[in-house]
Amino acid sequence: MRILLVASAFNSLTQRIHTELRDRGHRVGVELALGDDLLRARVAQFEPDLILAPMLTTAIPEDIWSEHTVLIVHPGPKGDRGPSSLDWAIGEGAAEWGVTVLQAVAEMDAGPIWASEPFAVGPHGKSQLYRNEVSDAAVRAVLLAVERFADGRFTPEPLDYDRPDVRGRLRPYHSQQYRRIDWSADDTATVLRKLRAADSQPGVLDELFGREFFVHGGHNEDRLRGYPGTIVATRDGAICRATIDGAVWLPQLRPRRTPGGPVTFKRPAADALGPDLLAGVPEVGVTPFEAASRDTWSELRYREHGEVGYLEFAFAGGAMSTGQCRRLLAAYRQACERPVDVLVLGPDRDFFSNGIHLNVIEAADDPAEESWHNINAMNDLVEAILTTTDKLVIAAVAGNAAAGGVMLALAADEVWCRESAVLNPHYRLMGLHGSEYWTYTLPRRVGAEQADRLTRETMPVGARAAGRLGLVDRVVSGGPVEFWGRVRGEAEALAAAPELADRLVAKKQRRAADEAAKPLAAYRDYELAQMRQNFYGEHEPYHRLRRNFVHKVRPQATPTHLLA
Ligand code: COA
Repeated sequence: MRILLVASAFNSLTQRIHTELRDRGHRVGVELALGDDLLRARVAQFEPDLILAPMLTTAIPEDIWSEHTVLIVHPGPKGDRGPSSLDWAIGEGAAEWGVTVLQAVAEMDAGPIWASEPFAVGPHGKSQLYRNEVSDAAVRAVLLAVERFADGRFTPEPLDYDRPDVRGRLRPYHSQQYRRIDWSADDTATVLRKLRAADSQPGVLDELFGREFFVHGGHNEDRLRGYPGTIVATRDGAICRATIDGAVWLPQLRPRRTPGGPVTFKRPAADALGPDLLAGVPEVGVTPFEAASRDTWSELRYREHGEVGYLEFAFAGGAMSTGQCRRLLAAYRQACERPVDVLVLGPDRDFFSNGIHLNVIEAADDPAEESWHNINAMNDLVEAILTTTDKLVIAAVAGNAAAGGVMLALAADEVWCRESAVLNPHYRLMGLHGSEYWTYTLPRRVGAEQADRLTRETMPVGARAAGRLGLVDRVVSGGPVEFWGRVRGEAEALAAAPELADRLVAKKQRRAADEAAKPLAAYRDYELAQMRQNFYGEHEPYHRLRRNFVHKVRPQATPTHLLA
């Protein structure tokens, strides 16, 4: 079928559905919802059999939905309506929620239902839930709806609030009035629920040191305590704030924009506040090893099961600043000292990595210089992985990865990828050549021709397609919990396998042979020469593209690479 995806942004769910539908042989077009006339023109040109809206914040014009079947993906169970479904679900502590595919009609979210799929709501921030459980349920619902549409005999179910399985209702926009935290009255569980319902957007509007900020993210702290509302500690850029019965970590803040003032964006909380306001607040670190057995916030955790070491990292938005790369490298070096033969790298769930930290770069006094430090810190980390010859290193990709974040995974000996993950193995959309030794690892995995295609076409690649290309070695189905169950089982089997010793010898020989053919330093020098030009050269698009990304500037038209 010819399926046109209409979306407010080519976001994670739209990319996922794009990869899933293409995988099933459909011809898939994408149009960003940037105006009714642009949409009409695109519909006329693409001549879709079906229009599908995976993430749409505006209405489809009547002339389009009356002439074509338009299916809308709504992140709520049957009967749920309104713009803040997930915020309400998390805010009210729902244990189960759903995704419904309904037909566009005049009234928003009130059309007949083509499919609806439930999912369990865990203790996760809204966008994490969206990229994982919501996305998996949405794919199931969309595939069922597409199948029913193709079959031609299915009659969608009219929305009828008298039916026992229609339990949702129309709810208003979840404004800041519902999100406000009362630090002198809300307990930790309430604070965390409010923070999760607002993460990553729009954040919870709050006051710190007499200034207004949106707070993004929130994690429990098991030990630190203080007078409710006070900042009791900092750690790796996050701040810890006391509640009436505990404390929570707040990793990121965004200053409230003043009327007519400059655009503001998320930054590590300690950077957004600055050292003067935090003078006297202690930096309370935690080692990755200690963090693994505590209920506290840490971007790094290290644990061992049998002969396998697991270095877990989790960076908000998958973005890795210079400091984050250096801390991960230090933890990696420590893990390399451990008496284990197999090392597994990757977050517990969600983004694997999205490369250098564009927000931190944007906020730097000299963004070109900070970009340079950041890419070098990334390269140091990748180099350490590439040159580890006494252990088998597995990258466990539980969630999406992009740009340098994909290349970070490719530094490992094997890449095991959750079936739901979407990979964007390219840099061009940020105006960068890219580094992270990709000119060594990518062609080595997929061949020069595919490497060229992937980096030039700048399209997302689903995990199964990545498996067919050789970009990843194993594709594992199921949610993050099932994924890690499989990863642990298979990593431990590898560690116990008699062939492991031979594999490590072969690995060492291959590295030596590759080094003799072309040293890693030569790849790095070549890539960094291109990156230096991207960062410091005149007329380079990188600084503009990065600013637009960080400031969330909407494009004027659907980018040409999506029009194919
Ligand atoms: N630096 C800083 N923030 C980043 C980031 C990066 N490299 N990559 C993603 N983020 C942030 C986004 O701004 C967004 O923040 P928000 O939650 O406050 O809106 C969040 O992470 C999730 O990203 P989003 O773009 O909403 O997710 P998506 O799944 O729709 O798209 C990507 C994912 C990876 C395609 C997109 O984020 C992207 O292009 N990132 C930049 C990749 C890149 O060029 N890296 C630098 C070169 S190595």
